[in-house]
Amino acid sequence: MLEKIEELERKAQTDLAAVTNAEELEQFRIKYLGTKGSVKNLMGMVKEVPADQRRVFGQGANAFRQKLNEAFDQCKAHIEAGGAADDKPHVDVTEPGLPPRLGREHVITHTINDLVEIFGRMGFDVATGPEVEDEYHNFVALNIPEAHPARDPLDNFYLATAGAIDGASTSGGGAHLLRSQTSTVQIRVMENTQPPLRVVAMGRVYRPDEHDATHYSMFHQVEGLFVDRNVSMVDLKTTLIQFAHAYLGAEAEVKLVPSYFPFTEPSAELYLKMHVRGERDWLEVGGCGMVDPAVFEAVGYDPEEWTGFAFGLGIERLAMHKYGISDIRWLFENDVRFLRQF
Ligand code: DAH
Repeated sequence: MLEKIEELERKAQTDLAAVTNAEELEQFRIKYLGTKGSVKNLMGMVKEVPADQRRVFGQGANAFRQKLNEAFDQCKAHIEAGGAADDKPHVDVTEPGLPPRLGREHVITHTINDLVEIFGRMGFDVATGPEVEDEYHNFVALNIPEAHPARDPLDNFYLATAGAIDGASTSGGGAHLLRSQTSTVQIRVMENTQPPLRVVAMGRVYRPDEHDATHYSMFHQVEGLFVDRNVSMVDLKTTLIQFAHAYLGAEAEVKLVPSYFPFTEPSAELYLKMHVRGERDWLEVGGCGMVDPAVFEAVGYDPEEWTGFAFGLGIERLAMHKYGISDIRWLFENDVRFLRQF
């Protein structure tokens, strides 16, 4: 028997929630609370209920009547106050708010910003250059001769289009390619600036490598160029040590291993000793050296007067080892569950 009351209560609630004006409210009143309404009917049923259940049923019916009267009065007051029943506030303003979902810097952008900041403190300005380059800036001016293996079409993204491309100067003419190194920016800066100068250039470079945990066909480099009178290897190594300490902490160590690059003489590979998953180990992060006199000649600097050093480091390597990222592909899949961690 009690289910009857519950069922009626549910129906009444639904009907009352649908009431939007005085007329609908009056219909509701007649249907439930009127002289022939459901409540009256329910009260009439009390005497038919078996004697042992009558008390409980009577109490339930009374409670329902009272509740319904209260709800009716509330709705009536609301309508009389000028509000429609369906614009009752649905928002609980006392609930704690939801934090807004914020985006964040990509870990590579974050690393680039760190590098700009660190080298900026050492007096380096930021320079940029185009990603579509000509052979002159990518190779010739950097003292990389025609027959050098670095110019192999299999190791570069040469562009099929011939002729001038907006944004890339065609001095030297020839084919265009996606730049394979940021060393191109060294040439572009020196063509337009008189020494002394200090610049860093960060940006994308492209090489047709198979993708695996440590290779990707696009990655980022930070290029550094310092030109002044009487610059020596000591200035280069001091700058790199300062950088390593600022980026990785005072315990970071720097090692230069003799190497060869056409645009520096002498040349070296830069190793940083850093924590790699709990163990400290030497990791190669790029190349460096003293600017080759042939490069100064290409841009019209007098190699008898000017000296300089240059370096080019892999930004992914720096970031991956600082943050313990073991697969370069994760950096470019843009899975927010990965990106959100940094
Ligand atoms: N451009 C070189 C590369 O991509 C790296 C490099 C080596 C840059 C020596 C330099 C340098 O500026 O002096 O492998």
